[in-house]
Amino acid sequence: MKIIKEINQDILNSDICLIPTMGALHNGHLSLIEEGKKLGLLTMVSIFVNEKQFNEEEDFNSYPRPIEDDIKILQDLNIDYLFIPESNYIYSKNDFEIIDSGVLGKQYEGSSRPGHFDGVLTVVNRLFELIKPKVAIFGKKDAQQLFLIKEMVFKKRYEIEIIEGKTIRERSGLALSSRNLLLTDSGKEKATLLYTILKEVKKEFRDRRELYAFEVFSSKYPNIVIDYLEILNLETFSKPTEKTYEYIVLLAATIEGVRLVDNIEFKLEGA
Ligand code: PAJ
Repeated sequence: MKIIKEINQDILNSDICLIPTMGALHNGHLSLIEEGKKLGLLTMVSIFVNEKQFNEEEDFNSYPRPIEDDIKILQDLNIDYLFIPESNYIYSKNDFEIIDSGVLGKQYEGSSRPGHFDGVLTVVNRLFELIKPKVAIFGKKDAQQLFLIKEMVFKKRYEIEIIEGKTIRERSGLALSSRNLLLTDSGKEKATLLYTILKEVKKEFRDRRELYAFEVFSSKYPNIVIDYLEILNLETFSKPTEKTYEYIVLLAATIEGVRLVDNIEFKLEGA
C-alpha cells in the first residue's frame, strides 16, 4: 500500500476505484473496501476530515482521528493507495468550486446542519476532479448524501460509476458509525432504538399507510431526541404519493450530544 499526500500521473493513468472516508475506520467502511477490491481496479481509500462539512467547530474538533490504527487496518487489507491529503492541497488557494446542494441539501439532515451537504459535495467533487476515478463507492447508511452525490455526478456528466454499499450493523441493529466511538455503553444501548424505530415505522406504514411517524414515535420513545423521522420516495427523495412503490425512512437523533443518522428502505408489496 502506498501512502500518498498528492495525486501523481501514475494514478491518473490508472483505473481507480475510490472509497472516500473521514477515517476512524470500522466494518462499514471495510465492507465498501471489500466491494471495491472485487472490481479488479486499483483500490484507493481517502482519509480526509473535511472541515467544510462540519457546521460546528466543536464537532469537527471532537471527530475521532485514530490515523495509526487506520493505517494498520488498511495495510492488512492490501489496498493499492491510501490518500491522506492536507487541507491546503484539497482546497488550494481557494481555487476550487463550491458545490451548492440545492433544495434537497437544505432539508432533513441539511436542515439541522446548514451547509453540511454543500461541504460534502464540494469535497467529493474535488476528489473526483483530482483523482478521476472510474468507480467510487459510498454507503447507503448516509442515504441523503448518496442521493446528492449521484445527482451531482448526473448533472456534471461525470463518467464515474457510483456503487452503493449496504449498511453494516452491530448485532444489536446499531448501524456502525465513527461517531459511535463518542458514546458511552449506555448511550450505545439507547442508540439501538434508532433501528428499532425504523423497523416499527416500516411495519406501521405497511399496515396503515400513515405518514405521521414523527409525532407518534417521538412520544413513544421519549428518552431519545428525534430530530426528524421522514418517510420518502426512495427514487426521488421527495414526499411519497399514492403511486410510490419504493420507500425510505430517514431518522436522525441525538444521544449524549452525538448526532446519529440511520435509514431503512422498503417496497410496498402489492402496490
Ligand atoms: P464517513 O462518515 O467516514 O463515511 C465514509 C463512507 O462509509 C460513506 O460512504 C458512508 O456512507 C459509509 N459508511 C458509514 N457507515 C457505514 C455503515 N455502517 N455501513 C456501510 N457504509 C457505511 O461519509 C463521509 O465519511 C464523508 O461525508 C465523505 C463522503 C468521505 C466526504 O467527506
